[in-house]
Amino acid sequence: MNKTSPESIVPGLNSPSPVSSYNEWGLLEEVIVGRIENACMAPDQASVRAVVPDAVIPELSRGSGKPMPEGLITKANEELSEFIRILEGEGVTVKRPDIYDHTRLFKTPDWESTGLCSACPRDGFLVIGDEIIETPMAWRSRYHEGLPYRSLFRDYFNQGARWTSAPKPALLDSLYKQDFVAPAEHDTESPMDYVINDSEVVFDAADFIRCGKDIFCHLSNVTNRSGIQWLQRHLGDQYRIHVIDTSLWRKPMHIDASFVPLRPGLVLINPDDIDVDKLPAFTKQWDFIIAPRPNKSSGTAYSYLNMCSDWLSANVLSLDENRVIVEAQQTTLMDSLKAHGLEVIPCAFEHFSPFGGAFHCATLDIRRQGQLESYFDV
Ligand code: NVA
Repeated sequence: MNKTSPESIVPGLNSPSPVSSYNEWGLLEEVIVGRIENACMAPDQASVRAVVPDAVIPELSRGSGKPMPEGLITKANEELSEFIRILEGEGVTVKRPDIYDHTRLFKTPDWESTGLCSACPRDGFLVIGDEIIETPMAWRSRYHEGLPYRSLFRDYFNQGARWTSAPKPALLDSLYKQDFVAPAEHDTESPMDYVINDSEVVFDAADFIRCGKDIFCHLSNVTNRSGIQWLQRHLGDQYRIHVIDTSLWRKPMHIDASFVPLRPGLVLINPDDIDVDKLPAFTKQWDFIIAPRPNKSSGTAYSYLNMCSDWLSANVLSLDENRVIVEAQQTTLMDSLKAHGLEVIPCAFEHFSPFGGAFHCATLDIRRQGQLESYFDV
């Protein structure tokens, strides 16, 4: 009979994981903050036109795949430094990906593309419990976006984290509807449609929002039904994934400025994307803050490159059930949050928007206090 000798036991089985996060509001202890060095404009592809604001499309074709202006990177880096200073001042450990050159052309056997950036770790990596899941993103420019994070993830793995990559998609032409015409942003007259079909498993992590055992997601131009199905099957029956309707928004990509839980029992809703009457009935156990319209920002010399809508205002980051980081110009939203007893921490972040997000996008929770719990009676 074979006996297991201690040296034959694979290390790490019982190590406590340095990665642990089940929701969007537990006390934040450690976070990855993205980088913008060597960032590129998104290549002009159908999957990109399907989501960027209508006003940016002319710039998308002019700037396709070109490096982002150095002046913008400098300004946005000043904002990132202040954001990191705030996080560290509030007791959060901040980790950064490696500096990586996204301007290089790369090829698969089927296509070639330049990269994008490492600004938004929220998009490509999903932390659920003690596991980091690399997600199969639908934009070709993001195919290798995991590489600048490898040394961090390797380190978390060495300390005991689980680390998974979903099946790598081929991102063939056949994934994208070739005759797709992107509707105007909120053109609710035209039938809802998405640029991708279900021929491969694709999803972005930022299309999923964690509330313990209940995870909310939506169909978008980067997340298809097969992607949602893969994740549900991977996570197993400890978790329930709910697909919510964001079809008021005709260019959907990423749910984290649409449905933003702030603490158990309270969620911020973007009324331009979500009709609350269409939310699953059980969510009504919670209170909704209907987000006020974003304050018109003062604008920057680089606003013409902004790939996101003004609703980045709702892309806030909770440090715990009370403290939330909000863009400095969004004073109307701050007032709504304060009226619900939240403490607001303002941070200027307008130059960061052209890189694809705000505070939630620019971060990836590595560790928040708390365990897996159920917050809804489903
Ligand atoms: N792409 C979305 C933001 C997602 C955080 C928007 O432009 O509103």
